[in-house]
Amino acid sequence: MKDLPDSEERRANLKGLGCARKRVEDARFTQGKGNYVDDIKLPGMLFGDFVRSPYAHARVKSINAEAALALPGVIAVLTAKDLEPLGLHWMPTLAGDKQMVLADGKVLFQGQEVAFVVATDRYIAADAVELVEVDYEDLPVVVDPFKAQAPDAPVLREDLEGVTEGAHGPRRHHNHIFTWEQGDAAGANAAIDGSEVIAEETIYYHRTHPCPLETCGCVASMDKINGKLTLWGTFQAPHVVRTVASLLSGIDEHNIRVVSPDIGGGFGNKVGVYPGYVCSIVATIVTGKPVKWVEDRMENLMATAFARDYWMKGRIGATKDGRITGLHAHVTADHGAFDACADPTKFPAGFFHICTGSYDIPVAYCAVDGVYTNKAPGGVAYRCSFRVTEAAYFIERMIEILAIKLGMDAAELRRINFIRADQFPYTSALGWEYDSGDYHTAWDKALKAVDYEGLRREQAERVEAFRRGETRKLLGIGLTHFTEIVGAGPVKNCDILGMGMFDSCEIRIHPTGSAIARLGTISQGQGHATTFAQILASETGIPADKITIEEGDTDTAPYGLGTYGSRSTPVAGAATAMAGRKIRAKAQMIAAYLLEVHDDDLEWDVDRFAVKGAPERFKTMAEIAYAAYNQAIPGVEPGLEAVSYYDPPNMTYPFGAYICVMEIDVDTGEHEIRQFYALDDCGTRINPMIIEGQVHGGLTEALAIAMGQEIAYDDMGNVRTGTLMDFFLPTAWETPNYQTDWTETPSPHHPIGAKGVGESPNVGGVPAFSNAVHDAFRAFGLTQTHMPHDHWRIWRTARDLGLHG
Ligand code: CDP
Repeated sequence: MKDLPDSEERRANLKGLGCARKRVEDARFTQGKGNYVDDIKLPGMLFGDFVRSPYAHARVKSINAEAALALPGVIAVLTAKDLEPLGLHWMPTLAGDKQMVLADGKVLFQGQEVAFVVATDRYIAADAVELVEVDYEDLPVVVDPFKAQAPDAPVLREDLEGVTEGAHGPRRHHNHIFTWEQGDAAGANAAIDGSEVIAEETIYYHRTHPCPLETCGCVASMDKINGKLTLWGTFQAPHVVRTVASLLSGIDEHNIRVVSPDIGGGFGNKVGVYPGYVCSIVATIVTGKPVKWVEDRMENLMATAFARDYWMKGRIGATKDGRITGLHAHVTADHGAFDACADPTKFPAGFFHICTGSYDIPVAYCAVDGVYTNKAPGGVAYRCSFRVTEAAYFIERMIEILAIKLGMDAAELRRINFIRADQFPYTSALGWEYDSGDYHTAWDKALKAVDYEGLRREQAERVEAFRRGETRKLLGIGLTHFTEIVGAGPVKNCDILGMGMFDSCEIRIHPTGSAIARLGTISQGQGHATTFAQILASETGIPADKITIEEGDTDTAPYGLGTYGSRSTPVAGAATAMAGRKIRAKAQMIAAYLLEVHDDDLEWDVDRFAVKGAPERFKTMAEIAYAAYNQAIPGVEPGLEAVSYYDPPNMTYPFGAYICVMEIDVDTGEHEIRQFYALDDCGTRINPMIIEGQVHGGLTEALAIAMGQEIAYDDMGNVRTGTLMDFFLPTAWETPNYQTDWTETPSPHHPIGAKGVGESPNVGGVPAFSNAVHDAFRAFGLTQTHMPHDHWRIWRTARDLGLHG
């Protein structure tokens, strides 16, 4: 039926799908009314602080807490010995390894937790930390993952000595964690070896850190009267934290309430379980008082989960005219002291095997070796979906290097090899089924938008001018076409600690036609309260402004696996749409009764059910909701509620085309980003304004990573970038203007066709910035140099190429 005359007006009033609705969260955030962990203040609350190791590898000979305990206000100093009787001196990691909660005989990285001081005041706790005397005997340090594999390398994990079988298969060396492989090694090698052109390179994606503005922390409070433990914390997966806390502590799960209040950025840093949470729980149980632990910035950078640190050796073959014949990747993954990667259980290297990218590569193979070193543990998906960023950087660098080998334009090389729109759904050589895409359309739009050919002409002229000595600035054009894989994931192959990676939404419509919906996810700034209400508005006809979205309280929200890796929209967003459809199905029965027609005689029109052929006879969702609560309807239960647990049939595959135009000063190594064009395709767009915000934020993080951000170690294992003086966090000053664009290729299996977007700009942004730097020097013989491209490194590249005269 055609829309009623006022349908469009009513649709606009809903502020549903596609509406650039203003973020409802911002009223509270911009007025200082957010409620973060550190805002939680409970009567009698104590404060915890860690004694941390100054050594990267040392034996702990003794710990003397006498002086600390003598300080007025100090309540306790916990060490591994205190936790051991409880079985809590070690804890399981998400990756099937185990991790010391407090140093048990030795320390394995600088900043490792050695003792937990509990005091009446945060400052007293910090003073007492200084008074704890620890006697260390330093041991040889290994920070290089290749040296860690030498036969005579020191044994880092003495607890694993003689253990030949790890969580992901055999261990072949005392510092080896796992080898994981995918694809056809013999086939890939044969295809590459028989190719007319072969490109080979090692690409390093350096160690970095998500560095959320709010650091990690928690407040643990044990109510000894009713036996209930409440844990507020910066948790990206509150339900999983509750399950893990129950399994570790033996407290029944119904007696644990985990609450994630407002979270000031997560980016993967707040997925795992940290010693601070365990110690705070123990401390509240022991003292009977609430205990708060909030790490400071240096602790966050030095000790909580790192990201990346992948050495990726690639081989790629092609015909002379640029058709890729095969891809081979071998990764040495530096996991630090404990394997605490946050990946679905079956994927110790996350989804790295998306490394064939946007290209139709006939045969491929990848293998990843995980290795222990004396660095902080982790391996989190820093604004990415489980090692997808590493994979995208790898393939987008390999394509550039292959283009150099072929003497071909890198944009054209991409176009020749893109998976065509008619090939979707497309199964990659490494086993993924890409749901939908139209890469050629996106690519052509992007190249046109920046006048690619004009840029290349300008670049060539600039090279000539440089050679004539008329300029000292080079021009780089950084191209990227990335394909992501987000929305973990189908329960059949994705779980975390055995919990299937579904997600959930529960909706309750109130009698007066407004609603509350609760989800298993948790926003950390993504604007879920705004966008999930929009999905529901379109599904139920209740205006988004009349829908409250709640997340993060395990006592009220349905079980879900949380928010990371852009899974909220693909999984919880789908659950939301499905729950909305259940509401609508029941509403249809009620409307049929009220209008005295058969269910099938009704049709949905924006916010109401109307009789087919008689649109003047209708019941609005608000009227139906009221009837659900105040009228006895034969065969229909009172109330209007629904819940959906959604197990996605597949992941979603957002993609994008990014182009960065960068000027580089050869003499100073400084760069200036002249233009950054970002085209994203995330399927159906829920809120274009939020998408744009996500893209801006993700690109700025990508800029940071590519151009300066790094967790660097010296040979002694000292962290050289443990403060924001050294760790690059861009401000508005360094951030360029971004030009955003889009195409819209819906996911065929998602109820509303939406794919994730939050991670895309980081995944695509890093290679775009980095390729721009490389491209500026291409005419002078540069093939590969490692990130981050800070001024010093760029200057050094220019010097090594002989450009300083
Ligand atoms: O899991 P996370 O929330 O980090 O990432 P996401 O699912 O990619 O969503 C990030 C934000 O972008 C959310 O507020 C989404 O609702 C919004 N979004 C959108 O408006 N349209 C899409 N197609 C995808 C995400």
